[in-house]
Amino acid sequence: MDQAERLRQIVKDLREKRYAYTQKARIITVTSGKGGVGKTNFTLNCAIALNAMGYRTLIIDADFGLSNIDVMLGMIPKYNLFHVITHKKRIEEVITEGPCGIKFIAGGSGIWELINLSRQDMEILMEQLERLDDLADIIMIDTGAGVSEKVIQMILAANEAIVITTPEPTSVTDAYALVKSVVNLKKDVNFKLVVNRADSVQEANDVMGKFIRVAQRFLDVNLEPLGYMLYDEAVIRSTKQQKPFVLEYPRSHAARQMHSMAQAIVAGRQRQDDRVQGFKGYVNQLLKLFNSKHKVL
Ligand SMILES: Nc1ncnc2c1ncn2[C@@H]1O[C@H](COP(=O)(O)OP(=O)(O)OP(=O)(O)O)[C@@H](O)[C@H]1O
Ligand SMILES: [Mg+2]
Repeated sequence: MDQAERLRQIVKDLREKRYAYTQKARIITVTSGKGGVGKTNFTLNCAIALNAMGYRTLIIDADFGLSNIDVMLGMIPKYNLFHVITHKKRIEEVITEGPCGIKFIAGGSGIWELINLSRQDMEILMEQLERLDDLADIIMIDTGAGVSEKVIQMILAANEAIVITTPEPTSVTDAYALVKSVVNLKKDVNFKLVVNRADSVQEANDVMGKFIRVAQRFLDVNLEPLGYMLYDEAVIRSTKQQKPFVLEYPRSHAARQMHSMAQAIVAGRQRQDDRVQGFKGYVNQLLKLFNSKHKVL
C-alpha cells in the first residue's frame, strides 16, 4: 500500500464509522416530472460512485417504466419485493448484486401490494424491511416520472428527494409542478436539484438558478443545487452497452460530474430526522400515506 492508498483507506474507514453510528440507512428518492430525463442513469451511476467512496448503497427500483435498473445493467433478477411481501423470499434473497458491490431490488409491483396486507403479514414484512438498515448506508429509490399520487407518496415518505430536469421547458415545468404538489402537502422535504443533458455549463446554471429562485419566491421552499451533467455521448453509448458510464467511461464529463454530485450528497448536512428514519421508518410512512383518507392529488 502506498501512502495515498493508505490515506484513502483511513478516510474510507472514518466514513464507514460515521455512518455506522447512525445505524439506519439514509433514504433518498430520485424523481422527475417528465419521463426520460435521466433518473435511472443517475441513480445507478450515483450509487456506484457512492459505493466507491465507501458507502454501502442499495437501489430500489420503484419505476415501472421501460428503462429499469436491471435493463441498464443487462441483468435479469429472479425475485423482487413482491416475493418478500408474499413470504416466498427473505429480503436478502431479493437483492441482486450489481457491479462494484452495489445492490439493487428490482421493480415489480411489490410496493403497491403493501396496501392489501393483513396486520400479521405486515409485521413479518416490517421485520424483513428493517434488515435493510443493516445492509446499506444509503438507499436510493428510483420513483419513476410524473406527478402521480404514487410518486408523490414515495417522495413524501422520505425526507430527501433528488429532482432531475433537463433544460427543456416542458421538463422544467413538470419538475416544478411535482415540487409544488409535494410542498403543498409537506414543507420540509429536503429537495436537491439536478439539471441533466444541458448543452453548456451556462445553460445548466441558468436553468438551475431560475428554478431555485422561482421555487423560493412562489413556493417558499429552498432547493439545493446538487449539480448538472451536460449532454454526453458516453451516457448514450453506455446505455446501449448496458454498462454504467462511471465504470465504462470514467474519464467522461458525465462520470466526473457524477462523482462530484455523489460527494455533494454525502457532504450535505443531514438533518436529525433524516438520519433516524431508516427504511423501516420510510415504509411505515408510506403505509400511513396509502391508508390515509386524504387524497394527495
Ligand atoms: N447526460 C446525458 N447525455 C446524453 N444522454 C443522456 C444523458 N442522461 C441520460 N441520457 C439518455 O437519456 C435516456 C433516458 O435516460 P434514463 O432512462 O436514465 O431516464 P429516466 O428518467 O429514468 O427515464 P424514465 O422516465 O423512462 O424512467 C437514455 O437513453 C440515456 O442514455
Ligand atoms: Mg427510469
